Amino acid sequence: MNFKLFNILSVSPMEKTINAFKQLEPEDFRILAIVERGMGKYEHVPLDYILKIYKQHSDEAIHRLDRLHKLNLLVRWSVSYIGYRLTIPGHDCLALGSLVSSNIIEAFGHQIGVGKESDVYDALTPSKDRLIIKIHRLGLTSFRQIRRLRSYAQNKIHSWFYASSISAEKEYEALTILFEAGVSVPRPRGHNRHVVVMDFVEGDELYLIRELPNSLRVLNEILDNVKRAYKVGVVHSDLSEHNVIVKPDLHVVLIDWPQWVQANSVNASEYLRRDVYNILHFFERQFSIKKDLEEVLKKIG
Ligand SMILES: Nc1ncnc2c1ncn2[C@@H]1O[C@H](COP(=O)(O)OP(=O)(O)OP(=O)(O)O)[C@@H](O)[C@H]1O
Ligand SMILES: [Mg+2]
Repeated sequence: MNFKLFNILSVSPMEKTINAFKQLEPEDFRILAIVERGMGKYEHVPLDYILKIYKQHSDEAIHRLDRLHKLNLLVRWSVSYIGYRLTIPGHDCLALGSLVSSNIIEAFGHQIGVGKESDVYDALTPSKDRLIIKIHRLGLTSFRQIRRLRSYAQNKIHSWFYASSISAEKEYEALTILFEAGVSVPRPRGHNRHVVVMDFVEGDELYLIRELPNSLRVLNEILDNVKRAYKVGVVHSDLSEHNVIVKPDLHVVLIDWPQWVQANSVNASEYLRRDVYNILHFFERQFSIKKDLEEVLKKIG
């Protein structure tokens, strides 16, 4: 794995994590992955468990565990036995390591946004295309919501990290379905654990735009994309002027899909109604364009 390629383009809050990341060797990633695996079973993964799976010299494992602890990628626990857990930077390094080794990302750049439930950075592919890395970081509130919405995961959810990974996986799944169906969303590039990688979209979020020439056309383009998503079974469920990017050519891209629901699921029509309401309400407030909610909904579904 060529981790030397992983450069910092600028100072970012992830700098410490990236600095640690650059010092890691393939064997360190193995240890981190063993601890991650053990966390499905133990709150603190016992040293004995790690040594048993690692199989190399135990001196080497202990040395590496110590180093990973000092790099803040693991925490050590030594109350009734010695055990380890991954920290958030430890989880981040595992995900980024996989994305680098599968040639999806090469360089890590500026922080673009801190969403309610994610950190978003820009990055580059090995061929220097601009990307977005969205690191999902779910809080407790949405963790509960995820629990309710996604019954298949009920037994498995044992930490916020697991919920963040499900959220990332869901977003990647939606982007893949939608991109293939020709809905205007960022092109998905890859996904690992709690991280989604997609194309960078140049432009501004709709809520920032004060003047919009031909705003009716823009509104219709958004609604047309909502309809096309619905036709392939996807309802956004968190659509608003915050999750629409208007490009310099005034075409739109719909972002932020982890909360999507299947169009045939129980509450889908309520979510669809709220999505459309948010958009219509914004255009009425901001650009004095009025459309009837019921009429628009009839045309979509
Ligand atoms: N593909 C992209 N291209 C350019 N900018 C993006 C892209 N994806 C996300 N962003 C930027 O990052 C911000 C946060 O992303 P996103 O809305 O997906 O995350 P979020 O955590 O769900 O945010 P929130 O919960 O606050 O809506 C966006 O508002 C936008 O500014
Ligand atoms: Mg958003």
